[in-house]
Amino acid sequence: MKVFHAQSQLKQHLQPFLQAKQTTGFVPTMGAIHKGHLSLLQQAMNENDVIVMSIFVNPTQFNNAEDLEKYPRTLQKDLELIEALSNKIIVYAPTVDDIYEGNTVAQNFDYDGLDNEMEGANRPGHFNGVGTIVKKLFEIVQPTKAYFGEKDFQQLQIIRKMVEKNNMKIDVVGCPIFREANGLAMSSRNERLSVQAKDKAAFIYKTLQAAKDLFIEKDVKDAQAFVKTAFESETDFTLEYFIIADEASLKTAIVKEKNKNYRAFIVVHIEGVRLIDNITLN
Ligand code: PAF
Repeated sequence: MKVFHAQSQLKQHLQPFLQAKQTTGFVPTMGAIHKGHLSLLQQAMNENDVIVMSIFVNPTQFNNAEDLEKYPRTLQKDLELIEALSNKIIVYAPTVDDIYEGNTVAQNFDYDGLDNEMEGANRPGHFNGVGTIVKKLFEIVQPTKAYFGEKDFQQLQIIRKMVEKNNMKIDVVGCPIFREANGLAMSSRNERLSVQAKDKAAFIYKTLQAAKDLFIEKDVKDAQAFVKTAFESETDFTLEYFIIADEASLKTAIVKEKNKNYRAFIVVHIEGVRLIDNITLN
């Protein structure tokens, strides 16, 4: 398996494939690889000639220094997991300097307001950091298709917008959320949870499913009231937000409207770890 830490060497390695018009599937990650990431890789392998995965904890998308410091970094284990899936995967694991070239700042993006909602509102600057790193990675790797998990659904929509606005010829593929057997959405952050908290966190998806039923039978406010009450009695959790939004605009819904697709988004904290999840509603 080839592992590159320098973009110049990665570009040199990819050049012949690009010239031969081979398709490249790209899976950008921040590491702490889990089955969700491996499912993205598998889909990329099914659909492309060449597969590149990046592993980089991007400092410009963290608005909280402690969160950045605590983010799991498990490169050796990650490489073993990737190699066990396929030794043909090309890994790019750059240093901050290699990718930011001495200028570790986020560019400003116009996402037509998609970044004013939810994660954008609660984590100022986050999506400029995401856009900055993903654009840099796209320019280096020049993928045909790029794969992102729907767990970060707002990120997925924002990357689609960034690609459209920058006229990048990249197919952005959204992949279904991969869950533990108890329903907990797989996330690198789960690494920081105790076994007990992982068990308890099954409550998040159960609550989302119940909220979905209420949304279908009744309306937005009923689902919202249910989730608020449910988390009030679960003192291990702190509910940061539960929002029902239109999938296209990500604007918060007040009442159900015909011909719109809705999704419920949730952020909760347990043991000081911020967990994010979402579910389609119709
Ligand atoms: O979803 C992630 O892991 C990150 O936000 C991404 C897309 C790799 C950019 O750093």
